Amino acid sequence: MKLEIVRGDITTCDVDAIVNAANTSLLGGGGVDGAIHRAAGPELLAECRLLNGCKTGSAKITRGYNLPARCVIHTPGPIWRGGQEGEDALLESCYRSCLELAEQAGCKTVAFPSISTGVYRFPLDRAARIAVRTIRQWGENPTAIEAVQMVCFDDRTYAAYQSALEES
Ligand code: APR
Repeated sequence: MKLEIVRGDITTCDVDAIVNAANTSLLGGGGVDGAIHRAAGPELLAECRLLNGCKTGSAKITRGYNLPARCVIHTPGPIWRGGQEGEDALLESCYRSCLELAEQAGCKTVAFPSISTGVYRFPLDRAARIAVRTIRQWGENPTAIEAVQMVCFDDRTYAAYQSALEES
């Protein structure tokens, strides 16, 4: 399973599944959540309304509607509260839950944003190390997923994930 770090806008990724850094209501928000809902169109929110929310660290899957991606996997990341409340484990659980769902849905290509490092204020370098380590560990076992992209929306995020990959 290939892991690459790219610079760009996840709503334009033509992959089987893009991951949405959502909140537990799954009813949309700002940041990448807002961008994905805007690009997918109102049917995405209509389907999300039926999902009854999602626990932090878990994930739920919907169709992609007007997005190039076939599916959207929604995962609420942890809000950073200083690092003593299990934030690291919850972030790792986000990546693992999304990869599990993607595999179950038969997705061969998956694109992630930098979960929790925006509004949820998770320290960027720490999040990048957790994300890269979790995705690489997933790839060490047989998986139907062929390629994962970390899609970074700005240069600072791109640099953090690039160095996390080089260090791993
Ligand atoms: N493509 C890729 N990445 C993006 C895009 C985009 N179009 N837009 C924003 N990002 C990046 C941000 O720059 C940041 O690096 O996604 C990363 C995650 O930031 P947020 O979207 O703020 O997500 P998060 O920190 O997980 O906070 C989630 O914010 O939008 C609300 O409803 C959401 O309540 C939830 C919270």
